[in-house]
Amino acid sequence: MSLATPRDLLIHELSDTMSAEHIVHKVLGEMASETENTEARKAMEHHQKETEQQIKNLEKVFDMLGEQPEQTTCHAAEGLKKEHDALAEEKPEGHVKELGLLAGAGKTEHYEIASYTMLHQMAKDLGEKEVAELLKENLDQEKEMARTVQSLAKEVGKELKVELKEQARQEKEAETAAAS
Ligand SMILES: [Fe+2]
Ligand SMILES: [Fe+2]
Repeated sequence: MSLATPRDLLIHELSDTMSAEHIVHKVLGEMASETENTEARKAMEHHQKETEQQIKNLEKVFDMLGEQPEQTTCHAAEGLKKEHDALAEEKPEGHVKELGLLAGAGKTEHYEIASYTMLHQMAKDLGEKEVAELLKENLDQEKEMARTVQSLAKEVGKELKVELKEQARQEKEAETAAAS
């Protein structure tokens, strides 16, 4: 498809985001099964359901515009998936694993926020009010998930601090025992 007009670009970007959502849906499922943190698992499963709704919203958007999505692959989402796979291959454990998963989830949500912020603006500029509203729904869900991921990471960080403190205490105890 040639990108001659702003509307062509909107269709192109929407198609790219449709591809991204399908990839993100898959990764959310993988992350939900990998995490050992109940809250994180719940959040990922919940957002996976939201992602299904987001895909439906995008389908509605294409209907409203009287267009079909282009068959394309979102290279950025694919890259984020590769990052996730590379982390899994390293087989991290405990807090390292949880923080790694949340770091990947946070990057993904912020990528989606960037995509929908631009799509929302483009639809508004083209006078596509209803399309813009649906895109805003998706955008708001991504923002909410980004906030959830951030607060989960903070919680894991707190647990990590307690663990490190305990480790330091035990090491000191061992040193004292060895010296006496
Ligand atoms: Fe999404
Ligand atoms: Fe998302």
